[in-house]
Amino acid sequence: MNTNYWVVDKIVDTLENSPQLKQAAELLEQNEVVAFPTETVYGLGGNAKSDLAVEKIFAAKGRPSDNPLIVHIARKEQLNDFVDVIPDSAKKLMAHFWPGPLTIILSYKEGTLSSKTTAGLSTVGIRMPDHQVALALLEQVDLPIAAPSANRSGKPSPTMAQHVKEDLDGRIAGIVDGGPTGVGVESTVVDCTTEIPVILRPGGVTKEQLEDVVGEVLYDPALTDVKETPKSPGMKYRHYAPDAPLYLVDGSKEGIQVLIDGSRREGLKVGVLTTEENQSFYDADYIFTCGKREHLETVASSIYEALRSFDKAGMDLIYSEMFPNVGVGNAIMNRLLKAAGQKVIKG
Ligand code: TXA
Ligand code: MG
Repeated sequence: MNTNYWVVDKIVDTLENSPQLKQAAELLEQNEVVAFPTETVYGLGGNAKSDLAVEKIFAAKGRPSDNPLIVHIARKEQLNDFVDVIPDSAKKLMAHFWPGPLTIILSYKEGTLSSKTTAGLSTVGIRMPDHQVALALLEQVDLPIAAPSANRSGKPSPTMAQHVKEDLDGRIAGIVDGGPTGVGVESTVVDCTTEIPVILRPGGVTKEQLEDVVGEVLYDPALTDVKETPKSPGMKYRHYAPDAPLYLVDGSKEGIQVLIDGSRREGLKVGVLTTEENQSFYDADYIFTCGKREHLETVASSIYEALRSFDKAGMDLIYSEMFPNVGVGNAIMNRLLKAAGQKVIKG
């Protein structure tokens, strides 16, 4: 399949009548799948009402079909089409965080979306992305758009159109290139079908921010206890992983350097994931500097690029520093632990 590639500049181009977005919208209406930027990561969009379109998303990604997709909308009114009851907690969260990196799980009106979008569950995850290109595209299509991250299943999520191209060129109808995404980790998924909202996936909006708006919010126990079954089906898979084994190191930079030296003596090419504060300390085959530890948002925005870059640099093994579980640090550690297959070693 020939993959169309459109460059859309949200500053320069007039998005409402952009010919590129019009073409992308037409393909979506024809139940083709198209990748587009959001403020978190690139999404792979398809008509959420169409079995055919959603099957194409799963096939392009190689994604297990028991893992439901998030439905993206441009206007809150679109919700009425497929959701009956909107609890107060959800109303408050929408008013506060939409458009933005928050996916809200609500119970869904049977038969209003493809059952493949919801993977047969009685609930649906919905979000309104805070990205002008995404919103303009969603406005033009005027359909609920199911969109998982636009990576091959298991790979790190794409934060640049180039990443989408690496994973999906020739497998999808088009890619809208709107530049690097920004937040860099996916939306927070919060279940509002329970009395107290529960975070199923930490992400761009932190627990503290949610609690400021709705009071108590819980974490799904499966996020911290690997023996629990996660309520968010996607959280059970190994994810976000580079090809080379990744180890998170619980220790000092000196300790990490000892590990690097040991692995290099065994003839391995060793990469290290660090931040601006420590980058000049290390001696390794490849060093990726992920923002500033002092500003965890800057780490989040380049964490997936970091994971992809180790493979491009041909590393055999990667050691990564760890990050504090505060604010967006929760999302960073959640993704790194998954990418590492939970491997944490003392350094
Ligand atoms: O930031 C994001 O959310 C990105 C952009 C493209 O919007 N999308 C994204 O989609 O990360 P995906 O498919 O890669 O991750 C969706 C997550 C999965 O872990 C899935 O299991 C969970 O949301 N999910 C979706 N619907 C759900 C539901 N009804 N109940 C529980 N979890 C659900
Ligand atoms: Mg994903």
